[in-house]
Amino acid sequence: MSKRVLITGATGYIGSHTIVELIKAGYEVTGVDNFSNSSPAVLEGIAKIVGKEIDFVETDCTDYENFAKVFEKYPDIGAAIHFAASKAVGESVEKPLLYYRNNLGSLINLIELMRTKAAGANIVFSSSCTVYGQPGPEHLPLTEQAPIQPAHSPYGKTKQMCEDILRDSVHAYGNVNVTSLRYFNPIGAHPTALIGELPNGVPQNLVPYITQTAAGIRECLNVFGDDYNTPDGSCIRDYIYVCDLARAHVKAVDRLLEKGERFEVFNLGTGKGLSVLELIHAFIKATGRDLPYKIVGRRAGDVEQVWANPSKANEILGWKAETPIEDVLRSAWRWQQNCC
Ligand code: WQD
Repeated sequence: MSKRVLITGATGYIGSHTIVELIKAGYEVTGVDNFSNSSPAVLEGIAKIVGKEIDFVETDCTDYENFAKVFEKYPDIGAAIHFAASKAVGESVEKPLLYYRNNLGSLINLIELMRTKAAGANIVFSSSCTVYGQPGPEHLPLTEQAPIQPAHSPYGKTKQMCEDILRDSVHAYGNVNVTSLRYFNPIGAHPTALIGELPNGVPQNLVPYITQTAAGIRECLNVFGDDYNTPDGSCIRDYIYVCDLARAHVKAVDRLLEKGERFEVFNLGTGKGLSVLELIHAFIKATGRDLPYKIVGRRAGDVEQVWANPSKANEILGWKAETPIEDVLRSAWRWQQNCC
């Protein structure tokens, strides 16, 4: 079975960290990206960490003809990890068509090309806990059996639709195998501070906004609401270290190539929920930095509280997210000091 893995969204936050772990595990990698929410400089960071340049093609996964050329150049692709997608909850509420076109179109092209051109149609999909919508308290912490409820944002809806498209493809095409990884909230950066989260423009996500505020790039952090039904009133999430998350992808590719399970889903989180205010105070404690913040109104599309029961991934993938939150936040701060 071919050990070459195609990574879409290769210069993105999770894609870049996953490439590092795949190469460490002995895989060959071909990366693709259109740099719509990342920079070519990420390739230099990856190369410094792994000690070699990775095979890379600049392409837009929604452009079928150009994307197909990648498979002509690399006919030995045995698996793919699909990260390429727009992923900001708030932005998706304002620009739904951009999210449907990009997130659904890129996936449909990938499936078509993997099933007809690749050496092995094994696909790991970058999904999200947002597919669960706002789970009822009786379903927390979330297992993979929790009900899929109406998503609170077009972003979450695209993840639900993409999983349906993949499930239908596994059913229709005998050679397609899929593992869907439902992430909770990835944060932090590689220990070398050579790669990390680097969204274009104003950060949509909490931790990069925190580190840019601590660095004086942003004046003050806005906390989107403290009137939720949680202990301190702010939203609760399961913040998982991006390097732990990346290692789960290697385990998922290993399993697909060895066992070829048709369709599997795993929740990837720490199993511990933290509120926005708790995370802010953990950052201050971990780094000693002051962090000006103020409470403002709620953000459209936000769910109140969600965190994982990761026992299925722990047991079946032999994987566990165990990096302490203070170490993770220090890695984010080191990256902020080094990157910008
Ligand atoms: C976290 C909390 C905000 C910014 C993310 C990704 C999404 C998916 C799920 C993987 C919320 C609050 C934020 C700020 C704030 N990940 N916040 N001030 O919305 O949970 O979704 O994880 O697939 O791709 O976007 O993460 O970091 O945007 O927000 O108060 O300036 O922080 O309201 O409660 P979210 P986030």
